[in-house]
Amino acid sequence: MRTHVLRALGSAIALVALVVIGWIAWLWYDSRLPDTYDVMDYGSHDYGGGPVPAGLHHAETSVAELRGPREGMADAKFMLTAQTATIRLASGREVEALTFNGVSPGPELRVRQGDLVEVTLRNDDVSQGVTIHWHGVDVPNAEDGVAGVTQNAVLPGQQHVYRFRAEQVGTFWYHSHQVSSNEVRRGLFGAFVSEPAESSFDLDLSLAAHTFDGIVTLNANDRFQSRTVSPGTRVRLRLINTDGTPRRFVVQGTRFLVLALDGTDLNEPPPIDDEPLELAGGGRMDIAFTVTRVPVWISLAETEVGLALNADGATRPLVEMGAKFDPAAYGKPAATPFDASSRFDRRFELTIGRWPGFLDGRPGLQWTLNGGVFPHVPVFVVQEGELVHVTIANDTKAVHPMHLHGHHVLVLSRDGVPVTGTPWWVDTLNVEAGERYEVAFRADNPGIWMDHCHNLRHAADGLTMHVMYAGVTTPYKIGGTTHNESE
Ligand code: C2O
Ligand code: CU
Repeated sequence: MRTHVLRALGSAIALVALVVIGWIAWLWYDSRLPDTYDVMDYGSHDYGGGPVPAGLHHAETSVAELRGPREGMADAKFMLTAQTATIRLASGREVEALTFNGVSPGPELRVRQGDLVEVTLRNDDVSQGVTIHWHGVDVPNAEDGVAGVTQNAVLPGQQHVYRFRAEQVGTFWYHSHQVSSNEVRRGLFGAFVSEPAESSFDLDLSLAAHTFDGIVTLNANDRFQSRTVSPGTRVRLRLINTDGTPRRFVVQGTRFLVLALDGTDLNEPPPIDDEPLELAGGGRMDIAFTVTRVPVWISLAETEVGLALNADGATRPLVEMGAKFDPAAYGKPAATPFDASSRFDRRFELTIGRWPGFLDGRPGLQWTLNGGVFPHVPVFVVQEGELVHVTIANDTKAVHPMHLHGHHVLVLSRDGVPVTGTPWWVDTLNVEAGERYEVAFRADNPGIWMDHCHNLRHAADGLTMHVMYAGVTTPYKIGGTTHNESE
């Protein structure tokens, strides 16, 4: 009798084990990416509760047609050559870097609002290929620089021309979007500044924070850089975080205004002084102040790296910093083209998780989007002109700077609390562990747009998806002989 029961139990356990093993094997099998694939073929279409667009299955537009102006003389023309180079930091330490024009950050590209910008990208010797993505500049899709989605990677000896009109003003940056988790870290990036017709600043600098081989730098300087400026000088600093993790800037010796976030001016910014400025990975903040006789230090928190104005001989004071700057309650509200009470055409949920699973056949803890591991992630389908609402929830213990290409999104609320200050527009939103944001954007730039974590390591590990306009397709492919690998 007992052996009978035991035997039955034994076979039941064997059966369950077989089913579990079979299921895991299937998960493994299902996770593998084909050698070469099309972004159109993966993910599951999510319509955000809106209608399935009529034109969805007969594609009318190719990404390749969604270009900037091909005709006309460029107002601002640049040549960027991707090349390997050894760069020397102020401390004398050397870094084997990937550069544009031999330097990293690459040359600052400064244009005026309305300029027709033309950039010729050449690849000298970056073997895996390069592209240029204009982070935060809402360019036409074909100019967006994503390998395998909007163009092919530019291989050594090849070139590619980008042309677009700089419609926005503000602080942006450019970086390679081919194997970006590797190439950006190694130095393929630079500042892109679009100035208004009239600027009222005497000193206007972009300052890009970047970690090279574990060394924290500001404009490739791993020390304090000193400058003497006369009292009365109006200073605008364009802070850029090119790393994947949040970076804090600290300002000492002056009160200052936060003028802009992610390239968008804030409304009626009041002066502040003891709030550290935390930038999302990929995020920007512009600050302004007028120099007096008092020395001013702008530094990266917990480092001796930064910019020192009129600080000759002075020692940097130790100051107690307050709570970090919070855009949600800074400045004054102003009219926006839509708000939380608008009627939305589609409402999407984007929940970031972390679960055991397989990524392209590799077992481990994986990032998930709405429960799926890449490529089983959602594709948000929209139509031109629609008003789109997205709720982003971070159910992981890590911070994720979520970056949508081609659009700026208006932040409506954080953890259920409405934004009460200035309109808060972002292209890169720091979503901290456990946080939940409601954001909205107007679908006014047709294409296939990446929406991913700008901790580019996370993105390469699958924290990436797309927003697709119905009817748009791409002729480009990823992987295999294409050499294209955006993350
Ligand atoms: Cu700054 Cu998809 O990137
Ligand atoms: Cu992330």
